[in-house]
Amino acid sequence: VKKIAVLTSGGDSQGMNAAVRAVVRSGLYYGLEVYGVQRGYQGLLNNDIFSMDIRSVGDIIQRGGTILQSARCLEFRTPEGQQKGADILRERGIDGLVVIGGDGSYQGAEKLSKLGIKTMGLPGTIDNDISFTDYTIGFDTAVGIVVDAVNKLRDTMSSHERASVVEVMGRHSGDIALYSGLASGAETILVPEVPFDLNEVADRMRQNFDNGKRHSIVIVAEGVGKGEEVVEAIKKRQPSLEPRATVLGHIQRGGCPTPFDRNLASRLGDFAVRSLIAGESNKACGMIGGEMVLTDIEKVVATKKPFDMKMYELASRLSQ
Ligand code: F6P
Repeated sequence: VKKIAVLTSGGDSQGMNAAVRAVVRSGLYYGLEVYGVQRGYQGLLNNDIFSMDIRSVGDIIQRGGTILQSARCLEFRTPEGQQKGADILRERGIDGLVVIGGDGSYQGAEKLSKLGIKTMGLPGTIDNDISFTDYTIGFDTAVGIVVDAVNKLRDTMSSHERASVVEVMGRHSGDIALYSGLASGAETILVPEVPFDLNEVADRMRQNFDNGKRHSIVIVAEGVGKGEEVVEAIKKRQPSLEPRATVLGHIQRGGCPTPFDRNLASRLGDFAVRSLIAGESNKACGMIGGEMVLTDIEKVVATKKPFDMKMYELASRLSQ
């Protein structure tokens, strides 16, 4: 490859900027021309592509969001849209593309690679729902935001001896709920991967209060349902718990990325560029056991990330 482009797509995540910076600076370091695509695949179809230099990624490693912006693009899901995207890149002489995003973004990269563009996927999503990487870029920061919120809720819930239900993001994945639940000492973690009975949950919460607990935190992954619904179910069964719902929403996707996310993004961005130079294509970059790994995008998209049941059981054991 001689000319590469980078785009961010799907829901943004903290650390995407650090990944863009790494792609641009590594690309330039290795003698490539590097282009940025504004607004994801939509920007590609609009030919919204510009040349990037060392300075265009200055002062962004610490910023949330993505300087390249992101968009959902229906046109790019059609074969005609994909062909148009590949043609636009080819007309500009761009032969490599780094796509930073989640599952849907990876599928776009796979289509482009079939049309002759060399592609690399980087896992950019707070959900941690991409397989063949231990962590996705943004996950660690999102978990930190949830833990910080739960710390605050715990204060006021303890004062009033109430239960707090915190709804967190994660689409179909329970990882944000699991990791933040263990780290914040939540009594109950409700995730789509593990069946549960709300009656039992409510009764156990009452018991815990009776045994001297002064608060009860329930973390519910959005893939399970709404926090407000869980509150209603608990109220019906155990009204004395006075449960309150808090929906953290998009707050989880903003703010300054943690050092972990910045380092992960920097390593993955550089690895993507080096892999393209080595002639690889249609691959997803990930980190497994601290090492950078490449996996076929098809395989990544077709495999559901396993849920860590051991960690889930540990969280239950420790939250008595
Ligand atoms: O994929 C990241 C994510 O933040 C999910 O956790 C959430 O379900 C979804 O995006 C929200 O999407 P939108 O940006 O369309 O509100």
